[in-house]
Amino acid sequence: MAFFDRDVEVMIDAETLRARIVELGRQITADYQGQELTLVGIMKGSIFFMTDLARAIDLPVTLELMGVSSYHGGTETTGEVRISFDLTKPMHGKHILVVEDIIDTGLTMKFLLENLAARHPASVKVCTLLEKPARAKTKVQMDYKGFVIEDRFVVGYGLDYGEKYRNLPFIGVMRTE
Ligand code: IMP
Ligand code: MG
Repeated sequence: MAFFDRDVEVMIDAETLRARIVELGRQITADYQGQELTLVGIMKGSIFFMTDLARAIDLPVTLELMGVSSYHGGTETTGEVRISFDLTKPMHGKHILVVEDIIDTGLTMKFLLENLAARHPASVKVCTLLEKPARAKTKVQMDYKGFVIEDRFVVGYGLDYGEKYRNLPFIGVMRTE
């Protein structure tokens, strides 16, 4: 029995994740032919997704990270977002693909896209592993999407519950939710 078996139930297994990420990588490779791409991974949730996605892309790729934290009023995000770890390189003239674990209300991505636009990149697109449309508060650009999920709190493959469960190799749902 693994440490998480009692608490977490599988929603998207590792093989399904792998296969979908290979497809996303092929699509991104085709769309950016002849260009260099800067992946901006949003910490910490997207780190597993970003490293797998990067290896599924057959293009010269640069990896950058950005950390954001949103203020929560209870369990709801307030939409107020703060940069806790900024990019270390100028983005001027770069083709940016923002890599995110999940778009829930969309408020974090809205903030990020406004922030990145101010750095005058050549282009900005969004790749999210998961979308939870039930809770959307604002319409955000999603150019590449892994899976649309129902309104459940998910963990694993980078996503956490109180900083735990990020290292599960699948997307799961808390049994005690
Ligand atoms: P948004 O601003 O509401 O779209 O929230 C985005 C952020 O909230 C994500 O990057 C996650 O860090 C976190 N989040 C939203 N839903 C979940 C979930 O089901 N599990 C874990 N984290 C989540
Ligand atoms: Mg996140």
